[in-house]
Amino acid sequence: MTFEYIDIEDPVFKATCRERNEEDYVLVRCNDYANVPINLPNWTPDPVCLSRRFEQIGQTIKDMEVRPDDVWIVTYPKSGTTWTQELIWLVCNELDFQQAKDVPLDARFPFLEQVYLHRHDPSAEAFQSIDLLFHSLSGLRDLPEPFNPLRDALAMSSPRFIKTHLPPAFLPNAFWTVRPKLVYVRRNPKSVAVSYYHHSVSLHCYRGSLDQFVRSMMNELVYYSPYHKHLIEYSELRYPNMLSLCFEDMKRDLPGAIRQVCRFFDKSYTEEQLAALAHHLDFGQMRQNTAVNRRQWVEYNLQQTNRPDRVNDNDMQFIRRGETDGWKRELTGELIEALDRWTLDRVPKDSKYATLFQ
Ligand code: A3P
Repeated sequence: MTFEYIDIEDPVFKATCRERNEEDYVLVRCNDYANVPINLPNWTPDPVCLSRRFEQIGQTIKDMEVRPDDVWIVTYPKSGTTWTQELIWLVCNELDFQQAKDVPLDARFPFLEQVYLHRHDPSAEAFQSIDLLFHSLSGLRDLPEPFNPLRDALAMSSPRFIKTHLPPAFLPNAFWTVRPKLVYVRRNPKSVAVSYYHHSVSLHCYRGSLDQFVRSMMNELVYYSPYHKHLIEYSELRYPNMLSLCFEDMKRDLPGAIRQVCRFFDKSYTEEQLAALAHHLDFGQMRQNTAVNRRQWVEYNLQQTNRPDRVNDNDMQFIRRGETDGWKRELTGELIEALDRWTLDRVPKDSKYATLFQ
C-alpha cells in the first residue's frame, strides 16, 4: 500500500479540532520512497499531516509523468512560494510582464495537490472567471466536475511550472529518474508560524487563536507538518538539478537572488531588465498586483464565511507583511521561547542542520 492514513490520537486535537475548524486532518505515511536519492542513512519518512482528500490524488501524483523541461518549486507553506514562483516564471519566460499581468499566477504555475485551481479549459479566458477560479478556497477541498487542477496540470503544455508543498517521499516516482529543475525555498520557523496562522484564518476559516495555532504546529498537526523534516530532507537530497533559496536572503538581497535564479536557468538579461524585474517583485508592487495577490480568494472566502467587513484587514491579505522579523512583534515571549525550544529539540544547536532554521 503506497499510503497509509493514520487517525490523529492527540487528545487536545481530538477535543478541540471542530472548534478550530481542523476536522479533516489525517497523518499520511508514504511507503513508496525507496528510489528517493537521499543522504539519510536508514531513512524512514515520517507521516505527514494532510487532508483526507489526499486519498483522491496521492497515487495519481506518485504515478504522474514528469518531463525533463518541467520546472518545480517546492516549499513548506508560507516560505515565500508565491514570490519565488513569480520570479522563476518571469526569468524562464523572457520577462513577459504582460502575460504575467494578464494570466493569474495560479494558472501559469499550478499548485499540484490543491484540488481546485482552475477548470479543465486552460485558456486565459477561463482563468478570468472569478466564480470558477475561486470556487473553493482551502487546499485539498472537494470539487465538483469540471474542476480538476491536477488533471489540468498534468495536461499543461511544456514547459510546465508546478508548485507543490509535498515532502520528497510524496513526489512522483518518475521525478528521480527524469530529474527536472527543482527550486526549494525555506523560511525561518517563527515567521512561517505567524504567516501560516494568518493564512489559515483568512483562507481556511481557522477559528483558533495564534497561540493555539502555534501549539498545533509544534505538535506537527498543521498541513504538511513536520516542518523541520521537510527542510532537512530536501537539504539532504542527492539532486544536482536543485537550487535552494531562503526567504531571508531574498529579503536582504533580491537582486542577488534574481542573479542566482538566472544562472540556474541559464538566462541572461541586461541590468535594466534585471532592475525592472526587481521592481516587479518588490513587496509593494506584488501586493497591488491582482495576478499574484490572490485578492479574489480572500474576498470570496470572507464573503462565504460572513466576514466581509474584514476584507481590507492587513492580516487577511495573502501578500500580508513580507517581513523577516515581524514575529518579534506578533508572538509573545512565551511563544518565542516555545518555538525556539521546539527547533532545538529537533535540531540541536551543534547539528549541521542548525543553519537551516536561523
Ligand atoms: P507574511 O504572511 O509574513 O507577510 P507563500 O507564498 O509561501 O504562501 O508565502 C507567503 C509569504 O510571503 C507572506 O508572508 C507574504 O507576505 C510573503 N511575500 C509574498 N510576496 C512577497 C514579496 N514580494 N516580498 C516579500 N514577501 C513576500
